[in-house]
Amino acid sequence: ARITLRQLLDDAAEHGYGVPAFNINNMEQALAIMEAADDTDSPVILQASRGARAYVNDIMLKHMMDAVTEIYPHIPVCVHLDHGNEPSTCVTAIQHGFTSVMMDGSIRADGKTPADWDYNVRVTKNVSETAHWAGVSVEGELGVLGSLETGMGEAEDGHGVEGKLDLHQLLTDPDEAAKFVEETKVDALAVAMGTSHGAYKFSRRPDGDVLAMDVIEAIHRKLPNTHLVMHGSSSVPEELQEIFNTFGGRMKPTWGVPLDEIQRGIRHGVRKVNIDTDCRMAMTGQVRRVLAEDPTEFDPRKYLKPAMTALSKLCRERFEAFGTAGRA
Ligand code: G3H
Ligand code: 13P
Ligand code: ZN
Repeated sequence: ARITLRQLLDDAAEHGYGVPAFNINNMEQALAIMEAADDTDSPVILQASRGARAYVNDIMLKHMMDAVTEIYPHIPVCVHLDHGNEPSTCVTAIQHGFTSVMMDGSIRADGKTPADWDYNVRVTKNVSETAHWAGVSVEGELGVLGSLETGMGEAEDGHGVEGKLDLHQLLTDPDEAAKFVEETKVDALAVAMGTSHGAYKFSRRPDGDVLAMDVIEAIHRKLPNTHLVMHGSSSVPEELQEIFNTFGGRMKPTWGVPLDEIQRGIRHGVRKVNIDTDCRMAMTGQVRRVLAEDPTEFDPRKYLKPAMTALSKLCRERFEAFGTAGRA
């Protein structure tokens, strides 16, 4: 059945678990994630970015979401817009059946200029009012994702956000978070504490200097009833790096967010945990393996099926680790 983010995260808060939000871009990912949810009896958040919507087509995406809820009627599915960059993007998602939208007003609609307080409050509040009329949940973001190691918004080569950011931008302030939630009425709040999107988050296993989980604890103390969201939460497991590199891929050694840090977050108000990179790596590693092992192969099912199997396994592990398993 379809469920809103608010319904799902209220249940997660009541029972002290977290819910992974997996990004989808195609049928294979949708089916593999659903299979894992079914195997572990977990509710699930399927999220689509603007890029995913452009890749799949909104109508195709809508029917795909309807299809998976029909195939697995007993699994609660929240369909969420990841990183909406302006109110109109959120509204068109609602028109296509999303039960939850993220208005990311931490960055201007151009995707590279850090936004000021007034802009963020204005666009987020606007989306909150509109979405709530339609019975749709809203996630907002306060603070800019980025590396505390380099001071760059969005890790890797630093593209995304312009210029170096100061600590006040990279770490969400608990008092401001309280004010932001009060003014915007968001159902869930994404916070910044050192994670960033993609594979290159940390140059070593992260400690409290670069992954500030204490900031999450402070925000949760200030806002015990607000559902917190961790973006950039792929763990970038060494095994997945190894498979990718063994079969011709080229990924520099890197570290993601360790599962025990996410579990610590879940003990302190984190209810939604965004994961895309790990899913991409799980699938692409298998595609690389099959094509490297048999260069004569040209049937897409022969490499997509192992890719789906690897993605399902990863999702099952996250459902188990976050306490989502058994909560469907
Ligand atoms: O927010 C980042 C997610 O990994 C989605 O990425 O915009 O390339 O689809 P994307
Ligand atoms: P990762 O790149 O760590 O998977 O983060 C995904 C994300 O935050 C999507 O919004
Ligand atoms: Zn994100």
